[in-house]
Amino acid sequence: MSERAPSEQGQGQRIWIMGASDGIGAALARSWARRGARLILSARSGEKLNDLVRELGTAEALPCDVTDGDSLRDAAERITTGGPLDRAITLAAAYDPGKVMQVDPQMAAQIVTANLTGCFNFVRAAVPLLKPAGQLALTGSVAGYVGLPQGQIYSATKAGVINLAETLRAELAPAVDVRLISPGFVDTRLTQKNDFDMPAILQPDAAAEAIIRGLNGRGFEVHFPRRLTLAIKLLRALPYPLSLRLTRRLVR
Ligand SMILES: NC(=O)c1ccc[n+]([C@@H]2O[C@H](COP(=O)([O-])OP(=O)(O)OC[C@H]3O[C@@H](n4cnc5c(N)ncnc54)[C@H](OP(=O)(O)O)[C@@H]3O)[C@@H](O)[C@H]2O)c1
Repeated sequence: MSERAPSEQGQGQRIWIMGASDGIGAALARSWARRGARLILSARSGEKLNDLVRELGTAEALPCDVTDGDSLRDAAERITTGGPLDRAITLAAAYDPGKVMQVDPQMAAQIVTANLTGCFNFVRAAVPLLKPAGQLALTGSVAGYVGLPQGQIYSATKAGVINLAETLRAELAPAVDVRLISPGFVDTRLTQKNDFDMPAILQPDAAAEAIIRGLNGRGFEVHFPRRLTLAIKLLRALPYPLSLRLTRRLVR
């Protein structure tokens, strides 16, 4: 196996991970910690973050809620004092799948606030903290590629995150290296809510490695596993009469 360059390893890089207390974000923290990154780990649950910091030995826990402007401002102030960031990445999201007519409206509003407004809030807090050409990564999902049955309102928020990342790329590059992460299925507490077989499902460690590889590459979108993401991209590219007939077949 070829040796990685120090920058690819993330050695010495200062990285803020939002949504680091669980799932893919926690796995990403472990992977970057192994590469020698200097991590700032955020999510709402301070206790879980502290456990992870104890496990990693080097990182800093900074509890924060992306739906709360004050908490993001406090976090940003604390981060500024330590110098500029190499990367800022948000994975914070909530999920409660269902058919549109069966979804609890209050829960739906909370999911929009956490997933879409929260992403917007994170961007505005994180961009001023980045060094020139520093990296900003938002996490969408293949669920945002096309309207599939039973995944609302989460899927609509992920379509919004994809749109937001595209706009940010247009507005901020090259001063900011904007990236979009589009995972397929990953085995976390989030997908444990699904009651169907999830094709090509990955473990969080494998997802974290795919994310780091992609973020060290040049492409705007980091999507994996390709056997799933390319199939859904193909579905998205079909004319409506065909794609809607196919998605209709997925209704249970
Ligand atoms: N798992 C999958 O199959 C899959 C597929 C496609 C995309 N994704 C995306 O990948 C990302 C990570 O998903 P995951 O599966 O790892 O989910 P997860 O295990 O539920 O982790 C979500 C993380 O977000 C944090 N979070 C939630 N609400 C927050 C808020 N208001 N403020 C700050 N942090 C918040 C959670 O911590 P606290 O609860 O402590 O705040 C947790 O650390 C999400 O954006 C998800 O949509 C996942």
